[in-house]
Amino acid sequence: MTCLHMSLNKMVFFICVLFIILSVGVLCKPYFSSSNYRISCIDILHSIVYKDRPECEGCTKSWSWMQSSPVAKCAFKKFEKPDASVMLNRSWVVFAGDSQTRLGMLSMLKLVEEPERVRIVKEHLKKLHTDYSTNIDSIGMKLDFKWKPYARRLTKLMLEFKKNEKYPDIIVMGAGLWDMLYETNASDYDVSLRSLRNSLQDLNSKDGKVPHLFWLAMPKLISSKMTPEEKRHKLTEPRRSMYDNKVNASKILNKFGGPLLKLDIHYLSELCGPQCTKDGVHYDDVVYDIAVQIMLNAVLIESTHKPPF
Ligand SMILES: *[C@@H]1O[C@H](CO)[C@@H](O)[C@H](O)[C@H]1NC(C)=O
Ligand SMILES: *[C@@H]1O[C@H](CO)[C@@H](O)[C@H](O)[C@H]1NC(C)=O
Ligand SMILES: *[C@@H]1O[C@H](CO)[C@@H](O)[C@H](O)[C@H]1NC(C)=O
Repeated sequence: MTCLHMSLNKMVFFICVLFIILSVGVLCKPYFSSSNYRISCIDILHSIVYKDRPECEGCTKSWSWMQSSPVAKCAFKKFEKPDASVMLNRSWVVFAGDSQTRLGMLSMLKLVEEPERVRIVKEHLKKLHTDYSTNIDSIGMKLDFKWKPYARRLTKLMLEFKKNEKYPDIIVMGAGLWDMLYETNASDYDVSLRSLRNSLQDLNSKDGKVPHLFWLAMPKLISSKMTPEEKRHKLTEPRRSMYDNKVNASKILNKFGGPLLKLDIHYLSELCGPQCTKDGVHYDDVVYDIAVQIMLNAVLIESTHKPPF
C-alpha cells in the first residue's frame, strides 16, 4: 500500500515537472522566434544618443543609435541618399498634419533631393499654411505634404484615400497643437482621434497593398520660450500630456492595438534639450531627421520578408 502510495506521489511529481518544463518551453519560445525578434527591434528604435559638437559653435547636435546590446544587435541603418533612393524608388509618401509633420516632410525631402532645392522649399513653406507636392523625378518618387492641422481633418483625408481605393506607400500623420490652441475642449480631440481610428480600419487598396502608417507625436513644449501670451497659456506640458493621453486612449497607436507606429518627437526633443529650440515648439532639424530615420527602419523591419511597397 505504502509502496503504491510512494509511486503515485512520484508520478504526480514527474507529471508536475513535465508540465513545468512544457509551460516554460511554450512561454519562452516566442522570445526566440524571428517574429518576436522583429517586434522587439521596433520597440527599441528610439534608443538614440545625441552628441554635442564642441568643435563647432552653434552647430546642431549629431546622433547615433546606442552601441550597446540589444540595440546594436538590431543593426539599425542610418539612411543616406543612395540607400534612401533605392528604398523609396517609385514610392508615394504622404506627410499629413501640422508644422511638426511639415518638418518631418522636409527631413524626408533632404534625404532624396538636392540641398539647394530643399533650402528653397523650406523657405517657401515657412509661414504658409498650404499643401505641398513634389515629384523626385530621378527615382520616380512622389512626396506630399497635406496641411491638416486638426485631428479631424486627418480623418477626412483618410476617407478620401479610401474612396479612391488608392493609398500612399507610407503615411506619416500628426496633429494636436492646433487642437490645443484653438479647440479648448480636449474631449473634442478625443472624438476626432476615435473617428480617425475608425477611418483607418480596412485600408485595402485595389492592388492589395497596405500602407505603412505612422503617428508623429507632439514635441516637448517649453512655454517660457513662447510668444504670444495665448500660446504660453495653452501650449503647456500638463496640457500636452492631457491631450497625449487621448492619443493613447483612442488606441490608434500600435502599442495599444492600433495601426500607427509612434514617432516619439516628445522623447526625441526632450532628449535634445531646450537649446534645440528657439520658440519652444519647433526643434532643430536633427530631431525630425531622427524621426524619419526611425520611420524608414521601421518600414524596413516590417518588410523583412516582402518588398517594402
Ligand atoms: C528604380 O527602379 C527602376 C525600375 O525598377 C530601376 O531601373 C532603377 O535603377 C531604380 N533606381 C534606383 C535608384 O534604385
Ligand atoms: C467638454 O465637452 C464635454 C462633452 O461635450 C463636456 O461634457 C465638458 O463639460 C466640456 N468641458 C469643458 C471644460 O468645456
Ligand atoms: C502613453 O503611453 C505611453 C506608452 O505606454 C506612455 O509611455 C506614456 O506615458 C503615455 N502617455 C500619457 C500622457 O499617459
